[in-house]
Amino acid sequence: ADLRLGRRLATLRAGTLGLAALGDPVARLFQAPWKHDPYAVHERLRCERRLTWSRSGIWVASTYDDAHAVLRDRRFGVRLANGQQPFDVTGGPVHEGTEPDVLEMSLLGLDPPDHGRLRRLATPAFSARRIEAVRPQVEATATRLLDALDPARGPVDLVASYASPLPVAVISDLLAIPPQHARQFAAWGSTLGASLDGVTSVPHHKRLLRAQADLRALFERLVAERRADPGEDLLSRLATAADGPDAVTADEVVALAQLLLLAGFETTTNLVGNAVHALLQHPDQLAMATEDPSLAGRVITETLRWDPPVQLTARVAHEPVRVGPVDVRRDQVVLVLLGSTGRDEAVHGDADVFDLTRPEGRDTLAFSGGAHYCVGAPLARLEGEVALRLLLERWPGVRRAARPRPRGTTVIRGWRTLPVRA
Ligand code: HEM
Repeated sequence: ADLRLGRRLATLRAGTLGLAALGDPVARLFQAPWKHDPYAVHERLRCERRLTWSRSGIWVASTYDDAHAVLRDRRFGVRLANGQQPFDVTGGPVHEGTEPDVLEMSLLGLDPPDHGRLRRLATPAFSARRIEAVRPQVEATATRLLDALDPARGPVDLVASYASPLPVAVISDLLAIPPQHARQFAAWGSTLGASLDGVTSVPHHKRLLRAQADLRALFERLVAERRADPGEDLLSRLATAADGPDAVTADEVVALAQLLLLAGFETTTNLVGNAVHALLQHPDQLAMATEDPSLAGRVITETLRWDPPVQLTARVAHEPVRVGPVDVRRDQVVLVLLGSTGRDEAVHGDADVFDLTRPEGRDTLAFSGGAHYCVGAPLARLEGEVALRLLLERWPGVRRAARPRPRGTTVIRGWRTLPVRA
């Protein structure tokens, strides 16, 4: 969900090769071979049971309690005192655009008071009641995608044909994107989503800027249209709320709409992919879920704990803060390892075991916490649950058809391909 962070991490990553070889755990999270098994790196960090200092110049929170404390503490924010985003400070080869990055105006990149003003605009649309009301739409979309697959014709890549199109179709529906734009919309989402781990080359950066500009142009047009002639959809509500007491600019509405597309896209895709992969790796758990597809919600909850799609985020201290025994100075950055918190033995017994019968534990931090807690969490859970349940109902014999290919990215963790047979 965190494009802002991902782009900055490209800078960080550029300077980490040497540090990784020296054993710096944070650097290792961004370098092969270690990055393919972040949980082993996390485990070492958690042993210290306090914030760890990385030689890349940042603190790291790896335990549930430290992550929880940092995310919920209002003395931490997302911008440095000079208003910049934190990862510029590492000064590497980030390819900056010439135009303002509209995503930086979105919720993820804002501190109070602007953050609260924009967030109040978005949250009502994602209330539990509103989201439950879209269940039939999500089911219809998942059913349509499954209907289009013919397992008799050979292996099917579940990422390309199911996990990836589902969230784009759902958010396009919610925003009422006209059908003629839907395909293009998905392609832009994919280009922008792919940059979550950083922008790695000049052509990549050019493609990214192009997609961003095109997407913004489309949203600018749609927001103007919906302002003039609002419907019942989410985009109309955002566009017209801009006239109310919490006045927001048209630019801010456009940024918010873009974020809703991006934040819910790769994240949900990889939640579904990681969940299916976890089941395929654990035949006993797969058998249990196939026997009773109403366990789909548990599969999602357990995946969010065991192998969540968003692995980390970052915060900046706006004033000196003591976290346990550690003094974090003003403007220092804390990398929060969300993916480590679900494996913390102090919170979950047998934390490395994927177990659908596990009793409910403490709230997951897979959707972050505090001021930036994921707005779309209820929608993400609903999509994940529906996707898994329908798959288990329709393909009770689902099994691996070939070796899956990992994305190989650090911020977003998941599978690029997941070939299966019915
Ligand atoms: C923020 C995870 C799906 C909308 C976040 C953050 C995380 C996250 C970790 C906070 C980052 C931080 O603290 O810096 C996820 C995961 C998802 C998911 C794991 C799916 C499995 C969605 C969906 C939507 C959405 C479906 C909406 C359509 C947002 C928004 C924010 C956000 C708007 C920004 C909130 C803020 O900054 O105040 N998400 N997300 N997310 N997410 Fe999600």
